Amino acid sequence: MVSSSSTLYIIFILFLQLLLVFGNVTRSSTLSTTNKNSWLSPSGEFAFGFQQLGTATNLFMLAIWYNKIPEKTIVWSAKNTNNNNLVQAPTGSQVQLTSGGLTLTTQQGESIWTAQPNTAVSYGIMHDTGNFVLVNKNSSIVWESFKFPTDTLLPNQSLELGGNITSRFSETNYTSGRFQLYFRDDDHNLMLSPLAWPTQLRYKFYYRIDVNNSASSSLVFDESGDIYVETNKNGTTRIIPQGTQWKNLDLDPKLYYYRATLDYYGVLTQYSHPRDTKAKQGWTIMRYVPDNICIAIFNEMGSGTCGYNSYCSMENQRPTCKCPYGYSLIDPSNQFGGCQLNFTLGCGDNNGEGLNVKPEELYEFTVLRDVDWPLSDYEKMQPYSQQDCQQSCLHDCMCAVAVFNNNTCWKKRLPIANGRAQSGGQLVLVKTRVSPFGPSSTTHDLKKDDRVKPILQGLLISSTVFNSILLAAVVFMTLLKPKRVVQAATLVETNLCSFSYDALKEATWGFSEELGRGSFGIVYKGELKAGSTCNVVAVKRLDRLVEDREKEFKTELRAIGKTCHKNLVRLVGFCDEGLHRMLVYEFMSNGSLANILFGETKPIWNQRVGFALGIARGLVYLHEECDTPIIHCDIKPQNILIDEYFTAKISDFGLAKLLLADQSRTNTMVRGTRGYVAPEWFKNVPVTAKVDVYSFGAMLLEIVCCRKSVVLMESGEEEKAILTDWACDCYMEGRIDALVENDQEALDDIDRLEKWIKIAIWCIQEHPEMRPTMRMVMQMLEDVVKVPDPPSPFSFGSIP
Ligand SMILES: *[C@@H]1O[C@H](CO)[C@@H](O)[C@H](O)[C@H]1NC(C)=O
Ligand SMILES: *[C@@H]1O[C@H](CO)[C@@H](O)[C@H](O)[C@H]1NC(C)=O
Repeated sequence: MVSSSSTLYIIFILFLQLLLVFGNVTRSSTLSTTNKNSWLSPSGEFAFGFQQLGTATNLFMLAIWYNKIPEKTIVWSAKNTNNNNLVQAPTGSQVQLTSGGLTLTTQQGESIWTAQPNTAVSYGIMHDTGNFVLVNKNSSIVWESFKFPTDTLLPNQSLELGGNITSRFSETNYTSGRFQLYFRDDDHNLMLSPLAWPTQLRYKFYYRIDVNNSASSSLVFDESGDIYVETNKNGTTRIIPQGTQWKNLDLDPKLYYYRATLDYYGVLTQYSHPRDTKAKQGWTIMRYVPDNICIAIFNEMGSGTCGYNSYCSMENQRPTCKCPYGYSLIDPSNQFGGCQLNFTLGCGDNNGEGLNVKPEELYEFTVLRDVDWPLSDYEKMQPYSQQDCQQSCLHDCMCAVAVFNNNTCWKKRLPIANGRAQSGGQLVLVKTRVSPFGPSSTTHDLKKDDRVKPILQGLLISSTVFNSILLAAVVFMTLLKPKRVVQAATLVETNLCSFSYDALKEATWGFSEELGRGSFGIVYKGELKAGSTCNVVAVKRLDRLVEDREKEFKTELRAIGKTCHKNLVRLVGFCDEGLHRMLVYEFMSNGSLANILFGETKPIWNQRVGFALGIARGLVYLHEECDTPIIHCDIKPQNILIDEYFTAKISDFGLAKLLLADQSRTNTMVRGTRGYVAPEWFKNVPVTAKVDVYSFGAMLLEIVCCRKSVVLMESGEEEKAILTDWACDCYMEGRIDALVENDQEALDDIDRLEKWIKIAIWCIQEHPEMRPTMRMVMQMLEDVVKVPDPPSPFSFGSIP
């Protein structure tokens, strides 16, 4: 509830801001990290002040940002002049303007950054251009932030000979990063180079703007929003940077903000943003160089855009990074941080398996197409067959990847670098460990150090012995299913619409038609008019946001809004007005998987197979492929929705954080639902993406068996009450046919049935590190990799 005291507080803050003379900063003015004030430009478009470095730190940077747009994009930050590194100010630091200039001091009085011109400063001005300047008594500029750019240039700003801008480290980390744009004094060329991070040593350039030698003087970003290199001879020769993506555009600085940023993945991009706060918010890519960063960087040293052991492809004009099978992101929150092996690749004894194990028993190969790491070869064999190539890599403990093409075999060693999507007909053989779920494969989890200590306190989970049985096969009809047209929306930033409460009230006919109730609130049907068409939507009213979670609402929204996958329910927009928080989703005409699965008539087997595959793909995307990895935490048939084409779509993802005061289960409320909840929710171990794997396993059994996870059974049938236990028993006793009694279609596809029961048992292993990742699950479901026999789940652990 907004109380009257907080209204007063807001008025007070507004009053304080009015007290500041907009634009003009007088001597002895002070800003501090604690009182969150800032110096605004006359129109309020730019602000100068402190910004926290991440939400979890007590460090701040001194920065300039766009103050009127929701994103508060940072365009400048104070850097250490010696090493070009970001100045990190601890809580309690303050910056003061004196006649000597600007001084940033810590609470202890230690000066950590200064801007001290030679002459006395009279006052400072935060200009509407985004330039913060210090002037002397003659009103001449003696210091300006435009002369010390970080990763961004603004209209009216120029980069002089010898100058540079350096990308930041990652999307959210403003530390000096891995790429630099610089204007070389000797040949006057403008170049882009990777840096040997964390030093400022430049590797060979990957993009060069060739300018007429010695004639050029500066890179100009003029007030119209155009960017070019200006020559000093007659001042009029304009050399527009070449390149297909850097074309002339219609520019209108009255309507748009422009900025040119060297993005943290090495692309120099010009962006625009409408000035009108009522227009659709978000930065749009206007033009950029190089065209394809994935292939532009071609250096012996360094990792390339994506980091080591990763490969890069262009999607929606931006590079995206993927790990090969068997590898996972080192830092799951940074797809550009490179990948690590989920297994040990070792020689001889180092395999940890003793000397007697043949490599055939330890390793296998996954095939990848149209990808290459062109500079990581250490051997080339010719003529060689694909078979020879694979054998050679298998028996060579140095070999991590082999590429085969035209009777030639290239062996590659770790770390493989500069990976890129590149079609040339090559086959990439990626070496991975067989039977992947050993303790070394705690992959893709959102937290590290989650290895469970051997836990002896526990009881046995019910089921014990395992075995198998055989049936027959059926055609995979889901492949014939009509394909849904992929949404055209490019979610480079988010594409979410912001709705007013009144608009949604009208769209839902006053919240009259209820579609369902979930853990977050009530869902209503609605209709949004867009021109002559009408889109049916589902409007979810969130009713349980913990008060201090409200800040996170926008952050989470941004993460959800950036997701785009066929098997996820698409978020169309939101309402964040006063107390009202609502999410607007596309409408799913066939209701939830629970309705379909547990309804009057069973869905046919092939349809169920399609549901399971789709959900698995959606989860792989959430865990690994979207920008911010998302753990769902409540996978169950009620949260899977089915569209008109019978595509299964995951809903309610990304909301877990908004509800839980703590992502671990220390508080009594567990977000999961009985029958789907992984045991670690109740133990003192961090919750990882493996909780979703567990729930997926439990749900896979429901999809296969068409029954609920927990049902009350009549006496004599109690062993069937908990589906996970009963399925384990049936599998062990060799009677999986009992699980699909009277379901002839399933019995006819007994190979798949058996395999899928095995996959489900892998997923519901007690210990999270024993469970496969969703990617492995997907590959097993898709028949890309073999399904090893699951171990008996009589590992130690306790039942919820
Ligand atoms: C800022 O203040 C100084 C000194 O008080 C004054 O001379 C100057 O005109 C002011 N500038 C602006 C832009 O208001
Ligand atoms: C930014 O990244 C660097 C390098 O990984 C790291 O040392 C630093 O702590 C990070 N800063 C923040 C605020 O996360």
